[in-house]
Amino acid sequence: MKYKYYIVVALISVVIKGNAQSTTDDVRKILKAMSLEEKAKLVVGTGMKSTGQSNGAVGATMGKVNGAAGTTAPLERFNIPPIIMADGPAGVRIDESRGDNSKTYYCTAFPVGTLLASSWDRSLVKNVGEAIGAEAKAYGVDIILAPGVNIQRNPLGGRNFEYYSEDPYLSGLMGASMVNGIQSQGVGTSVKHFAANNQETNRTNSNSIVNERALREIYLKTFEILLQHSTPWTIMTSYNKINGVYTSENAELLHDILKGEWSYKGIVLTDWFAGKDVIAQLKAGNDLIMPGGASKTRAIIEAVKRGELDEKVLDDSVSRILSILLKTSSYNNFINNNSPDLIANAAVSRQAAMEGMVLLRNENTLPLQKDSKIALFGNNSFELITGGSGSSEVNKKYVINLNDGLKNAGFSVDNNLTSAYTDFLSEAKKKLPERSNLLETPKQAEQMPIGRSEIENLARINDVAIVTIGRNGGEGHDRKVNFDFNMTDAEKQYLQIISEIFHSLNKKVIVILNIDGVVETASWRSYADAILLAWQPGMEGGNAIASLLSGANTPSGKLPVTFPMSYNDVPSCKTYPTNGDEKQENAIYDEGIYVGYRYYDKYKVNAAYEFGFGLSYTSFKYSKIRLSSKSITDQVEVSIDITNTGNWHGKEVVQLYVSAPKNIKDNALKELKGFAKTRLLAPGEKQTLKFMLKIADLANFDTKSASWIVNPGVYSILAGSSSIGIKDNRSLKVKKASLIKKVSHKLLPQQSFEELK
Ligand code: BGC
Repeated sequence: MKYKYYIVVALISVVIKGNAQSTTDDVRKILKAMSLEEKAKLVVGTGMKSTGQSNGAVGATMGKVNGAAGTTAPLERFNIPPIIMADGPAGVRIDESRGDNSKTYYCTAFPVGTLLASSWDRSLVKNVGEAIGAEAKAYGVDIILAPGVNIQRNPLGGRNFEYYSEDPYLSGLMGASMVNGIQSQGVGTSVKHFAANNQETNRTNSNSIVNERALREIYLKTFEILLQHSTPWTIMTSYNKINGVYTSENAELLHDILKGEWSYKGIVLTDWFAGKDVIAQLKAGNDLIMPGGASKTRAIIEAVKRGELDEKVLDDSVSRILSILLKTSSYNNFINNNSPDLIANAAVSRQAAMEGMVLLRNENTLPLQKDSKIALFGNNSFELITGGSGSSEVNKKYVINLNDGLKNAGFSVDNNLTSAYTDFLSEAKKKLPERSNLLETPKQAEQMPIGRSEIENLARINDVAIVTIGRNGGEGHDRKVNFDFNMTDAEKQYLQIISEIFHSLNKKVIVILNIDGVVETASWRSYADAILLAWQPGMEGGNAIASLLSGANTPSGKLPVTFPMSYNDVPSCKTYPTNGDEKQENAIYDEGIYVGYRYYDKYKVNAAYEFGFGLSYTSFKYSKIRLSSKSITDQVEVSIDITNTGNWHGKEVVQLYVSAPKNIKDNALKELKGFAKTRLLAPGEKQTLKFMLKIADLANFDTKSASWIVNPGVYSILAGSSSIGIKDNRSLKVKKASLIKKVSHKLLPQQSFEELK
């Protein structure tokens, strides 16, 4: 009997490996031959073989890849290997060594998500994805735990740097480009963290209390758009609850919306150790429990035996996992050579960094003269922060800091000042406390003190001051208002003194922001003649900054988030945790749909730098917008000519916003519905950009009827260089109301709360 059984199994393996039948048939056959124990084993990861790091992502041996984040269980009877999963959003996160000295396994550190989104360039983000996918494949990783696409609801969000934007359209399309890039290499993705994961404070207990419309139009919308433009192999649920229920245990979210309404066919997996009840998770449609562990497998077997969990539910999850598994490199015996092209990928990282940096201010300062002598200030000019901390850290071979970058670009940097900083930092770093785990953001040294007379001397012998200001944050903590969102007094004073002294000699001061998230700029920006927002730009950051300062490349990034005048202007400032209160459970989203520019616009609150803002070394003329039709029933084509009217080469990001008819009161004044970046235009050169606007793009969520509706009336189609820099507009008529989609009420808040209207 046993003998016969093994023959059946062996036959199945042969058929499958021979690819003789469709995946669906293969999956069905394996499923049929699987025991309850095997099924329960497959839906639970193998746990953490941690060497002490808090989430085990460092030092764990996962299948054949050291430092991967987790694996599924192998099924020996079927010759089914584990699926190997590794972080993350800014590059492949694995250990750089596998215990022998003969080989290293470094990966490329790419810029953080917010910088990538600042490029507004879908093909660039896809290129980054291709590079990440190729590295993953070469190193034997099957699925990358990225991209992170949650909305940046508040500047203090500890993981904002991993995420793209405050706008769902931009986030969704950037995320889709990343998915398409990674998956083009035959490596899967895990789009995270589904959903309404907007804070780190009390992160495994926090309850996002959000109304239906804000969920639909903002927080779920990102994922919905992403799924319209890509097919991620997996989606990762988040740590938080939505309206009282953990996302991983939330059947309305997973079963009804994601798998039902949106027809998602891939695997839904938990975030690491997320949620509490494994049976509730499976019932809700969370197919894979990560990182897993034997006790969870036992609980599932027991629940099926007791009749608490229908085996059909388990079968659906197993089928989903198998369908993906059969596509993995591990399953298909791909021989990974462990030799990705790190040189080519470093160039991709550098290009991306350059395209996503945003020039915030430029008072006749940049680009710099090639022969400028530079006094380089600020610890982070010498210690570039390449990315945020936590699971998205990358073990990279080297970092090009700004000092290196400027020298590589041929600038002369004041050597004495550089030596002072290097000596100071090497001593100061020795005194910093050891980092105890991955979720502890590495401490930074205090700024090197520098006296007035020294600065005066430096100002005499150099032509320009460059001051880098850094912010280092990460997973597990939200940022603070003081000393993080706001500059410290010491930082402001330092900047003020450098500025006074250099300006007294008619010399310019440039500030480089090497930051993980939005900071206050209004109180100090006048000290600087130019401000370049470099975000956290990955390992080639110094080269990228220098290429923009020198004018070899022109800044072309634009803000994917608003920079408010002060923290008190942020729409969620009253409800968002600011004091690290780990006990605060309820996060009330009382700003509703008015997140980011939707709020600043509507409530006429001035921003320091608005959504979509970014300067260039050249200027652009927007011609009149043209619409293919004056009214819309299905779709219209919008086109506009952009001409470089300045004296410098450059690229322009054009944003297309839509304003609903004036009689619709409770609505954003405008919403982003299209964007495009020109190619590099020489002075005088012109390019026509085209956008396709579909009727569904005009829909809003009507809470009363739980449907997406396009109201009749006259809409305005606006083309702008930023959310307030609107250059031209056209009217577009919707003759009659149109019902885009009727859904049913889901995820309703269990308590009522006052909302902005
Ligand atoms: C993070 C995820 C990450 C996972 C695996 C968790 O702490 O929230 O984003 O993918 O760890 O490292």
